[in-house]
Amino acid sequence: MSTLAYIKENKDKFLDELLALLRIPSVSADSKFKDKVREAAEFLKDRFEDLDTEVEICETGGHPIVYAERIIDPALPTVLIYGHYDVQPADPYELWDSPPFEPMVKDEKIFARGSADDKGQTYMHVKAYEALIKTDSLPCNVKFMIEGEEEIGSGSLAVFVAQNKEKLAADVILISDTHIISNDTPSITVGLRGLSYVEVEVTGPNRDLHSGTFGGAVGNPINTLCRMIASLQNERGEITIPRFYDKVEMLSQEYRDKMNLTPFDLNTFKNDLEINSEKGEEGYTTIERTGIRPTLDVNGIWGGYTGEGAKTVLPSKAYAKISMRLVPNQSSEEITQLFAKHFQKIAPDYVKVKVTPYHGGEATVTSTNAIGYKAAAKAMEKTWGKEPIPTREGGSIPIVALFQKELGTDSILMGFGLQEDAIHSPNESYGLFNYYRGIETISYFYQIFTKMKKDNQ
Ligand code: BES
Ligand code: MN
Ligand code: MN
Repeated sequence: MSTLAYIKENKDKFLDELLALLRIPSVSADSKFKDKVREAAEFLKDRFEDLDTEVEICETGGHPIVYAERIIDPALPTVLIYGHYDVQPADPYELWDSPPFEPMVKDEKIFARGSADDKGQTYMHVKAYEALIKTDSLPCNVKFMIEGEEEIGSGSLAVFVAQNKEKLAADVILISDTHIISNDTPSITVGLRGLSYVEVEVTGPNRDLHSGTFGGAVGNPINTLCRMIASLQNERGEITIPRFYDKVEMLSQEYRDKMNLTPFDLNTFKNDLEINSEKGEEGYTTIERTGIRPTLDVNGIWGGYTGEGAKTVLPSKAYAKISMRLVPNQSSEEITQLFAKHFQKIAPDYVKVKVTPYHGGEATVTSTNAIGYKAAAKAMEKTWGKEPIPTREGGSIPIVALFQKELGTDSILMGFGLQEDAIHSPNESYGLFNYYRGIETISYFYQIFTKMKKDNQ
């Protein structure tokens, strides 16, 4: 039987298995789900065992890593697959049309937390591998490394990678954890942004005060925090932190013009989000703003009284979580320091400021000349009948830069999700078309990559 025929014949089984994985609430950020995170790892381990594949659950200081491999001949190329089985918290639950961990197939889409990010996309790799094994068609060696901490910064994986360089040796790393332009327009992600993430605490008076007795005479930390945050961007949408742009790569007009040929409809974008107009740094298009420019966003802000009714209080403290998306050549550590220094400096005398850094990561770019890119492009061309377009995406997968640094191996970001999948949001979904198209395309990747590697020798 051909690999394609095997995939067709097993469509229902492949879907049922994914739904079972989606039923496990493997939320890495919330310790309440710790056992469930492990259960998802065990589930994957069992599926590899079903395929007589050497597999282990690697313990870490945090959530476990599932590692599996099949070495058919050390002289052949090796593909390392990376994915994550952990998911974002499903909150706010009340905004879901069906419960996030009771997957529902509706309108040709699977609705569940993690369906697109990244269980659905990771599981395509397990099933492409199954199809190749069962039809005696696996042309090269394959290693799988599936982690449970991607959504909380991949802390344990960073240690694991540094300690297991030999074990993880590969010719290419293949990852499906990104988007395509649309189901008619395939694309391969060649750029990801980096990330610098901080929490700030602003303290005013030593205790919550009566806002009548003291209001007007004592600096309110929430008012102050809002003013400080507002000052971080100017009218042109530029970030005002000194030296923030120092290392930002200035791309040629030619490169930018080419980037702007990427199919993108501003009206569809605005209608989808129900906004009257877009907003960003002046002088750049929407594609450029998310692809090649850094940003600063408040992710959450709190303090004072937010319960029912009105409580008159002048709070002692105010907080915010702030993220900065970075572009190539900016260092997340350096940007975090620049931020902290600037935030202290702009704080008025009547408040104290504390800045706590969280996880971060560096931006990456992949060359379209890499064999892995070319093989992925050919595989997509085979399933879509058109050449994919290279894109730069705004999201971050910090471990990709680390793979390059520690292992010296390039990652190919061949994702199959759509922006409308609403990853991290309520009603996250993943299309059945995307799931099956992914499985098929991945199975071709192995064959094309192995052949291109051989021809190249
Ligand atoms: N799969 C996403 C990253 C992504 C999304 C890349 C869309 C390209 C397009 C990943 O799971 C993710 O959510 N990453 C986090 C960073 C991480 C350190 C928490 C992100 O981008 O916010
Ligand atoms: Mn992801
Ligand atoms: Mn994610």
